[in-house]
Amino acid sequence: MWSDRSSQPTKLSECSNGLGLRKNTHRYLRGLPLVTGNYDLVVSSSTIVTPNGRRSGQIGVRQGRIVTIHDDKDPVKASRRIEAGDRPVIPGVIDTHVHFRDPGFTHKEDFESGTRAAAAGGVTTVFDMPNVMPPTTNAAALRSHLENAAAKAVVDFGHNASAAEPDNIAELAAAGATAFKIWMMPGAGGSMKDTGGTSVTDRAVLYRIFEEVHRTGLPLYVHPHDHELYNLFANREKQRSGRDFRAYARAVRGGDSVILNTGVAVALEMQRSVGTRLHVLHVASRESARLVRAAKDLGRAVTAEANPYALFVTNDWSNIERLGPYALNVWTPERDAEALWAALDDGTIDVVASDHGPHTSEEKEVGWTDMFSAPAGTPFVEHYLRLFLTAVNAGRITLERVVELCCTNPAKLTGLEGRKGSIAPGADADLVVLDMDHEEVLAAANSHYRCGWASTEGMRTVGAPVITIRRGEVIMRDGKVDAEAGSGRLVTPCRGPWSER
Ligand code: DOR
Ligand code: ZN
Repeated sequence: MWSDRSSQPTKLSECSNGLGLRKNTHRYLRGLPLVTGNYDLVVSSSTIVTPNGRRSGQIGVRQGRIVTIHDDKDPVKASRRIEAGDRPVIPGVIDTHVHFRDPGFTHKEDFESGTRAAAAGGVTTVFDMPNVMPPTTNAAALRSHLENAAAKAVVDFGHNASAAEPDNIAELAAAGATAFKIWMMPGAGGSMKDTGGTSVTDRAVLYRIFEEVHRTGLPLYVHPHDHELYNLFANREKQRSGRDFRAYARAVRGGDSVILNTGVAVALEMQRSVGTRLHVLHVASRESARLVRAAKDLGRAVTAEANPYALFVTNDWSNIERLGPYALNVWTPERDAEALWAALDDGTIDVVASDHGPHTSEEKEVGWTDMFSAPAGTPFVEHYLRLFLTAVNAGRITLERVVELCCTNPAKLTGLEGRKGSIAPGADADLVVLDMDHEEVLAAANSHYRCGWASTEGMRTVGAPVITIRRGEVIMRDGKVDAEAGSGRLVTPCRGPWSER
């Protein structure tokens, strides 16, 4: 079905040159009759967050796309209206990093349950990771992965393919990969369970991966890590204090985050040498942020990701004591968490993505006494926008910056600028209506997560998505997801020069 880009079902595949984003917007508008009124849907609000700031108005939607934003006070004619009043309207969130476990581990999550959770969380586009079974290391595996996802998704989607086989990178790009992902560690096992076929430790192979991905023009997403240093600090902790979740949390941060920082430094140096568009995942330390900032200051093609657990959960040791393995993921010591927030504010971090990583509670339980053998993923796709809205209400970050981190910049990273991630004429009508006063105590039991637990359990939030609209269709209202499996569509990138933004 997706044998080459020209046969893909989206118009974006027509856009082949690096500078085509603006052109693409025009192409989009060209197909739309420019008469006003008679929209399929109009969404009115006093607070629409657009790329040019907040404004009031009525968003006119036809055939799933935004046609215009009207200033008129009188209601514009439409088949359907949503009067949001004072409730803010933002673009649908784009999550560039989810583990939906499908195929291979669908007892933890599948593409339908995962995308239902996404819709409930205000996320209208997701990009899943290749550590599935079989991993997406070649074009045939990618095609069948996308067909399976297309049959189940309720939000739009794309896939970050495995870069582990350098010789297959070109064919994966041609078959519709959005980006490439590599873990700098050995395959399956331990706390990075299920990563067989997606990981590398050999630096020569990693260098070849940088070269091959560079040829495709797509970004390479790197999970930074140094496994020899990890083994050193893991062994020291095991000898000193055993194998429980506390020992694991400390081991990963051994040597003041030298495991993470060495991974970042190696990836940045390969990027400098080869020129590949590098997206550094999981930035969560002072020094990693400094290294990324220095590379960006030199104009290098580098972007960076932060994750909600590091900002909201594992930055507080008391959450780790309370939730044990259900909080881990990595511990983020206070001064690193502060640096991470500063990096969000100053633009060092471009993108926040959930790293939604469900595992079974049986697997997690092991972590109370042996976290070195338990998996380190935690589910977040449904709750992370709520956590950010709570931070907006607390005055910690602006709603505009949340939109940049969670919508606009992810669209640029994935080649969808102009198409998704902003409320502007020509873009898909992916919209989220927020209730900034909505109070909640987060609970896995009220979520769409298949795994049945969440590290956000018991957290109080103020602010929630109350309506999610995907291409002009309401797919969630007041927490209830109403969308058919298979109604989400594959989106393929239109390459833009991120480094020249
Ligand atoms: O915490 C993580 N969980 N990090 C990874 O890189 C993998 C992920 C997972 O698959 O759960
Ligand atoms: Zn991940």
